[in-house]
Amino acid sequence: KKRVAVLISGRGSNMTALIEACKDPAYPAEIVAVISNKPDAAGLEVARSHGIEAVAVPQKDYPSRAAHEEAINAALARIAPDVICLAGYMRLMSAEFVGKWEGRMINIHPSLLPLFKGLDSHARVLESGMRVHGCTVHFVTAEMDGGPIIAQGVVPVKPGDTEDTLSARVLKVEHKLYPLALKLVAEGKVRMVNGGIVYSGLIEDDKTSF
Ligand code: GAR
Repeated sequence: KKRVAVLISGRGSNMTALIEACKDPAYPAEIVAVISNKPDAAGLEVARSHGIEAVAVPQKDYPSRAAHEEAINAALARIAPDVICLAGYMRLMSAEFVGKWEGRMINIHPSLLPLFKGLDSHARVLESGMRVHGCTVHFVTAEMDGGPIIAQGVVPVKPGDTEDTLSARVLKVEHKLYPLALKLVAEGKVRMVNGGIVYSGLIEDDKTSF
């Protein structure tokens, strides 16, 4: 099984979806540790309740972004993950940090990338008038939310939607999409090559969009 570290900043519902997926003996990955940049992230306790090592590396304990990233890297070096999953990790990473893990770090973003990169995607989708929305799992590169796309899920935008109703609809799909995307990465069926995406040996059941 591939060793996976999950980085979070908050409630960790995507982290929980990954933990649940990993309980299937046939699933090709295991969550070996959870790291949060926020000491009060609710997801830390959830991870511990599943018997998973969960540590906070608060940025306020470090004098600079570089020093904080060094501390995260030290924790990761000890954990020695094959794959890093960002799951609501709300801190930008330097190109140097990203470069260290390129091809081995993936992220879930609550929009149909390359549309609506960055924060407040749900509000901006409502504002845009688009009638569809969704979520994306992608490899992390130095360009924020700009790395090669692994898989996407789509939801309708319904009349009367608010940020709350729309984000809840997207989140449900996130919880399906992330385990699916991590499985493809862990099996080596999806790889990042020369900054692009390569799918290999995909069978019909391996959905990269739904
Ligand atoms: C999720 O919707 C995730 O896609 C989003 O934050 C939420 C975290 O929820 N991520 C980003 O916005 C990344 N920039 P969770 O903590 O319950 O998984």
